[in-house]
Amino acid sequence: MEQLQQQIHNLKQEVTNYPVTNAEQLEAFRIQFLGTKGQVKALMGEMKNVPAELRKEVGQWLNECKIFVEQHFETLKSSLQSTAEETTDGIDYSLPGTPQPIGGRHPISLVRNQIVNIFKRLGFAVAEGPEIEDDWHNFGAMNLPEDHPARDMQDTFYISQNPAWLLRTHTSNVQARVMENQKPPIRVVCPGRVYRNETISARAHCFFHQIEGLYIDEHVSFADLKQTLYFFVKELFGNDVKVRFRPSYFPFTEVSAEMDISCLICGGKGCNVCKHSGWVEILGCGMVHPKVLDNMGIDSNKYTGFAFGMGVERITMLKYQIKDLRLFSENDVRFLQQFHTVV
Ligand code: DAH
Repeated sequence: MEQLQQQIHNLKQEVTNYPVTNAEQLEAFRIQFLGTKGQVKALMGEMKNVPAELRKEVGQWLNECKIFVEQHFETLKSSLQSTAEETTDGIDYSLPGTPQPIGGRHPISLVRNQIVNIFKRLGFAVAEGPEIEDDWHNFGAMNLPEDHPARDMQDTFYISQNPAWLLRTHTSNVQARVMENQKPPIRVVCPGRVYRNETISARAHCFFHQIEGLYIDEHVSFADLKQTLYFFVKELFGNDVKVRFRPSYFPFTEVSAEMDISCLICGGKGCNVCKHSGWVEILGCGMVHPKVLDNMGIDSNKYTGFAFGMGVERITMLKYQIKDLRLFSENDVRFLQQFHTVV
């Protein structure tokens, strides 16, 4: 029996030391130890020589030895599989990554940023106000009389749960909000989204973007307004663009004007975009109406100011020769990606 014990011991030793680093060696291991003509089988064959009274005990040794070899085989097999997975999962970790296309800014954001930056260089700060507004800040404070057509349900989206609230129809509400909270001197530009109940077409939309400007101090004059806007136009469109002011009317300014630039499409010769006039209107402006200053508790005998408001879509369309306003909100990547390189 001692001899058999020794044989079991030797077999375990041999199994433990057997080198297995690839599939062929694993198969050789299986054949040598666990195959039909393998060493485990051979050892089991010794049972027939064991005296009956010792069979139970020896049987246990042999069984335990067989399980040892089988378990060792399984361990070798699974460690071989996991190293195989690590090296053959098809990924070469040294390759550079697959480039992911990055997005770009929306053309409206690009132009808004360009415009805001021009005014920042002149010392204007940026102010923002709410898109859901009350009647006073959107209309009343801005000197729009009760019966002004802009208050008509046709143009203004009222909040159905509470008609005292509306979606602002212009960024001029921020003028009122700023004057409420700041004392002159005030110098702000206010970019933002505005809403009007318009039928959507190539030239009109129910929402769009404006940039409002407001400058209030002692002795601010119309000459200051003109020079500020001249500078703005040259910076945004270049030196060749011509500028003209036309008298106009806004309830919140007196005097009021509209500013045109020479048509960028035809260079002033006349085309469809400028309706053959050679000029396109890009903003409304004027001297802040004394009533607006008084409404907001600013002494209109001491202070004067100018204001202006422009549509970002209109300017973007001119700058990039975009013919349909709807392109801005359709999110068609073929349109948007043309601006990805613009900064
Ligand atoms: N709020 C006007 C509009 O939406 C634009 C405007 C005109 C704003 C003249 C001004 C201004 O501040 O002075 O059409």
